[in-house]
Amino acid sequence: MALTIKTFLPKSLLGRSLLIIVVPLILVQLVSGVIFFEAHWDKVSLRLARGVAGDIAAVIDLLRTNPKPKERRWILETVADRMQLTISMQENDVLRLSGPQAKSLVDKMLARAMREYVKKPFRIDTESKPRDVIINIQLPEGVLHVVTSRKRLFSSTTYVFLAWMVGSSLILFGVATVFMRNQVKPIRRLARAAEDFGLGREVANFKPEGAREVRQAAAAFMAMQERIIRHIRQRTDMLAGVSHDLRTPLTRMRLELEMQGGDASALKTDIAEMEHMLEGYLAFARGEGAEDIVPANLSSLLESSVSQARRNGALIDLHTEEVIKVPLRPLAFRRSITNILDNAMRYGDNITVRAGKRGGVAEIIIEDDGPGIPADKREDAFRPFYRLESSRNSDTGGVGLGLSIVRDTIRSLGGEILLEDSSLGGLRVQLRLPS
Ligand SMILES: Nc1ncnc2c1ncn2[C@@H]1O[C@H](COP(=O)(O)OP(=O)(O)OP(=O)(O)O)[C@@H](O)[C@H]1O
Ligand SMILES: [Mg+2]
Repeated sequence: MALTIKTFLPKSLLGRSLLIIVVPLILVQLVSGVIFFEAHWDKVSLRLARGVAGDIAAVIDLLRTNPKPKERRWILETVADRMQLTISMQENDVLRLSGPQAKSLVDKMLARAMREYVKKPFRIDTESKPRDVIINIQLPEGVLHVVTSRKRLFSSTTYVFLAWMVGSSLILFGVATVFMRNQVKPIRRLARAAEDFGLGREVANFKPEGAREVRQAAAAFMAMQERIIRHIRQRTDMLAGVSHDLRTPLTRMRLELEMQGGDASALKTDIAEMEHMLEGYLAFARGEGAEDIVPANLSSLLESSVSQARRNGALIDLHTEEVIKVPLRPLAFRRSITNILDNAMRYGDNITVRAGKRGGVAEIIIEDDGPGIPADKREDAFRPFYRLESSRNSDTGGVGLGLSIVRDTIRSLGGEILLEDSSLGGLRVQLRLPS
């Protein structure tokens, strides 16, 4: 039950706050409308109807006490003049009682008043004339035909009241919409800023605005962002510093070993590996955020990365469209593709690369026939310095930063990276980029 109601409620803050305003508004209008019609309008209509019926009763009495044609003509003329009642007598006629019965409130009120004052058989016709109401009354000598203006029976304040009710609701609703939209705008801006920050874009010159609570949240968000950025910067600066400082003594060690001649190949391999690691740390610490996003052709980027990998002896199948235009950071993106290809080459023998555009999304799939990564380790593979090899027990010499850098780069472009099982038997890396 709660679920079904929830599905019909608006999801946005603007929609909900408008609902909070509109529901009581309609309730209030309904209640006051009911009170008005029940109490006020009924009474007013009945009084008007009684006025007409009383006049008609008076005319009937006058006609009865003045049977001479001359006197009767004078009475009818005066009545037409002073009471807006056009009355004629159809002698020896009989009232037809068939035909439609009174429906509207005014009809009912008039019928009630007629029964109270005239006490003779009658028919009311409010439909055949647009501006007049016709009342036929059976008298002993014939049918009395009375025509009176509708204005004598209708109170026009009803329509003024109805128009005011609807009009004021619309005005209130319009004003509420404008004001609420302005209240919601800063919240939306804050949400967008938080989203941008999550995608790795720095949110510069964000001005807190709106209601006090929203400003507080925005200010807290800005402070948090600053703290996080400072924190990250300190860490990466430290990593860069350590790597940089270690590089010099390491180079010196390598040179000294070479000068001594001697057979220390194991030592040399170690040093080469350490140098490779330090390069990796430095690349990570330098970050890729500085590069600008520009429109680029994904296909030609892939082709050049693949042909470079082929020169290093990889067997790669490449399927791609002629041109796939995507906004990218070209250097960082190339490094990401090279990283993924390096992994695939290291663990597999055959590699396929496919790229294409589907809807507004560019998709790149890189598969290999290596051992793959078990499903429960895939999230870990993205963690900096995480390597599966310690458990696989074969050293293939990497730092464990490749995939974590790749994911940072792809996310900073608003895209995502997924690791899956490949039909080739190894890992399938799927990149999706908004284009
Ligand atoms: N194609 C693949 N097949 C099997 N395992 C893989 C594949 N790609 C990555 N992995 C696993 O995920 C781990 C993390 O990969 P990542 O690229 O981040 O680090 P790395 O390749 O070990 O080091 P680096 O790329 O920094 O030189 C790897 O150590 C490896 O165990
Ligand atoms: Mg790697």
